[in-house]
Amino acid sequence: LENGSLSIIVLGASGDLAKKKTFPALFNLFRQGFLQPNEVHIFGYARTKITDEELRDRLRGYLVNDKGASPKDLEDVANFLQLIKYVSGSYDSGEGFQLLDKEISEHEVLKNSTEGSSRRLFYLALPPSVYPSVCKMIRHFCMNKTDLGGWTRVVVEKPFGKDLQSAEELSSQIGELFDEPQIYRIDHYLGKELVQNLLVLRFANRMFLPLWNRDNIDNVQIVFREDFGTEGRGGYFDQYGIIRDIIQNHLLQVLCLVAMEKPVSLKPEHIRDEKVKVLQSVLPIKDDEVVLGQYDGYKDDPTVPDLSNTPTFASMILRIHNERWEGVPFILKAGKALSSRKAEIRVQFKDVPGDIFKCKKQGRNEFVIRLQPSEAMYMKLTVKQPGLDMLTVQSELDLSYRQRYQGVTIPEAYERLILDTIRGDQQHFVRRDELKAAWEIFTPLLHRIDDGELKPLPYKPGSRGPDAADELLEKAGYVQTLGYIWIPPTL
Ligand code: BG6
Repeated sequence: LENGSLSIIVLGASGDLAKKKTFPALFNLFRQGFLQPNEVHIFGYARTKITDEELRDRLRGYLVNDKGASPKDLEDVANFLQLIKYVSGSYDSGEGFQLLDKEISEHEVLKNSTEGSSRRLFYLALPPSVYPSVCKMIRHFCMNKTDLGGWTRVVVEKPFGKDLQSAEELSSQIGELFDEPQIYRIDHYLGKELVQNLLVLRFANRMFLPLWNRDNIDNVQIVFREDFGTEGRGGYFDQYGIIRDIIQNHLLQVLCLVAMEKPVSLKPEHIRDEKVKVLQSVLPIKDDEVVLGQYDGYKDDPTVPDLSNTPTFASMILRIHNERWEGVPFILKAGKALSSRKAEIRVQFKDVPGDIFKCKKQGRNEFVIRLQPSEAMYMKLTVKQPGLDMLTVQSELDLSYRQRYQGVTIPEAYERLILDTIRGDQQHFVRRDELKAAWEIFTPLLHRIDDGELKPLPYKPGSRGPDAADELLEKAGYVQTLGYIWIPPTL
């Protein structure tokens, strides 16, 4: 990391995102020595009038688990909280931001005189409706002091708009105030270990290179399931729905990494160039290749309108019109209140041509990357069933992280991504043209849902979602291997 003063300003400091994700991630970085007390100052900013101590009290419980905390944990928490100061002010008037600038500058001027001493990272843990005014305030009152060197960066989080037009509007408003290298659009799926592994897997293994195309792969599934509903977030969720909440961003980012061509190098711009190309090759989604669902009981939430048409489940086929993927369906599926919590990528290969083991239909090869829980990747193979007879059976080559990398802690997505923002590495952040291409894919479908032309099917909480989704999967060509279940190894 560079030297000099680093100020991290969390706007919306007492909100949910800040408490649950941003501050805990900062705490983890602090514990690992990435945020040195003599160089780093953290500021919380929000409208509520509270003291430094009150903010610290509110955050404490999110940093360590009271029950399992060791004396060392408690000491770390106390030291970390000491780095945090609180400034209160509104999001659209100069006063608060002038005060914030004064507080930040004090540390920069008094304690540092080295090059790059004014490094300012603004983390907007706020609703997007205030992004433009907050960005304006930062631009006018809180930029880094050029005589001290350094930089100013802003981190923003989805939802970036609700459709192509509103997203472009937001992008232009922010784009007038900051240059693209200053803007970090977070998609926390890009910070997950196995998502980051996709590039290595695909391009550092000779074995996959000749197989990864329409000649060998029959279909690809990218699936997100949660076993809880929208409890407590119904009001927010209802305005967006599962496609905007999960598919248009998280799953689509994963699709890019699975489907893109090899980048010229690992430079962030080279990688992002390839992602944009894949997105631009996605064909319009067909109505008969979409299944929407809404779980029974969703509308019981008092913050959800009685007539809500918002899907809490969606499964759809994306088709990529290029030389590598023509004809291969990419099935994107996401749902709340389902039977399990899981996110995985499932690459299913075609049948073996000229099969000589005719006695029984052979299961297909599958390469499964389980993003969570319990990170793993496994390859389903047909092998000879051990024993005297020449029988075949499905088995797997299994790389389960917990077993293979014992004692290794896998960093949280936000921890990694915040470190990238401090280091100035935009590889795992969404570029403006990428965002635009992503909205172009989903906007027509979203408008039809918003207008009530497409309606979600009901499904039972705790189920697999509407049956029609399994039918769509079958129509897409996915063949299930009956009787085969992968059992995660226990230690
Ligand atoms: C968020 C969505 O972006 O991702 C939530 O808004 C969802 O609805 C969450 O629960 C899932 O993240 P993770 O890391 O738990 O898979």
